[in-house]
Amino acid sequence: EMDPVERAFQERVDAGQKIEPKEWMPEGYRKTLVRQISQHAHSEIVGQLPEGNWISRAPTLERKAILLAKVQDEAGHGLYLYCAAETLGISRDQMYEQLHSGKAKYSSIFNYPTLTWADIGAIGWLVDGAAIMNQVPLQRCSYGPYARAMVRICKEESFHQRQGYDALMRMVKGTPAQKAMVQDALNRWWWPSLMMFGPSDDASVHSAQSMAWKIKQNSNDELRQKFVDQTVPQAKYLGLTVPDPDLKWNEEKGGHDFGEPDWEEFFNVIAGNGPCNAERLDARKKAWNDGAWFRDGLTAHAEKAADRRAA
Ligand code: ACO
Repeated sequence: EMDPVERAFQERVDAGQKIEPKEWMPEGYRKTLVRQISQHAHSEIVGQLPEGNWISRAPTLERKAILLAKVQDEAGHGLYLYCAAETLGISRDQMYEQLHSGKAKYSSIFNYPTLTWADIGAIGWLVDGAAIMNQVPLQRCSYGPYARAMVRICKEESFHQRQGYDALMRMVKGTPAQKAMVQDALNRWWWPSLMMFGPSDDASVHSAQSMAWKIKQNSNDELRQKFVDQTVPQAKYLGLTVPDPDLKWNEEKGGHDFGEPDWEEFFNVIAGNGPCNAERLDARKKAWNDGAWFRDGLTAHAEKAADRRAA
């Protein structure tokens, strides 16, 4: 039997009401949100690294300005999301500590390298495309601050998706070498993009409870299916081949059948053993350590100012 306070909470969630900071919530609800929102924030912040790799090498001034704006947007998304998580009683320093110690995850996708300029287009098209598919329903999340943060984030993500597709469109109309570069990027980013939605539903430990609390609105496999159905025609339009021999339209279900991602690779990457995990974490830890003098200076200044006021 559910206790009456918890039942009243669940009824509010079922009725589509937003839960706001400092209102009563089950401890598990709070913990799940802290986990998901902080991991989401970390993903935005770490997600700047693979693209940042190409800011100094963008092919034109216009592409550079677009990429700079996009990477700055990701930083903004991270800060929004850290604020949303802070409303649940965790500090930003604690969240950073969890990232740096490897306790908190961030999206598997950012542990793959960006080898060519086409990878930047592919990230916009596929990675931001997958992010939108996942984040649009999060605008209806039961927790108010997370839901509201998603509104603006989704608008910016759609710009990111369009700029990626536009960059690739330009390249596939270019030389055969440029078109081959785009195909190669799709070959490398397709499966990792499908993995962004998380493990298959039968292996997803949190989905059932998160859906009951309306933190998640859809299961991992539902969103993965929608992403495949949306993206396959876009690949065709670019004249590219999706690297999945099992991919085919299924008239009866009104969607595509497709192959299984390599789940062993996925679990390996989220355990910290992907191609760039060490490099990504080292970059974040270095940024934190490089900022120590500044944090110390701020603290020293605040203490002196407090002393002066007391004197
Ligand atoms: N990368 C890293 N870890 C993942 C991924 C992934 N692609 N998918 C699942 N996991 C982790 C989960 O965090 C969980 O581990 P934990 O218990 O240590 O937190 C474990 O794998 C089991 O997965 P699920 O039970 O399915 O977890 P959950 O219900 O949290 O669903 C999902 C995973 C869909 C990623 C969810 O957390 C979510 O929607 N997060 C918000 C969106 C987000 O984080 N986007 C970041 C990527 S894109 C971007 O914004 C730039």
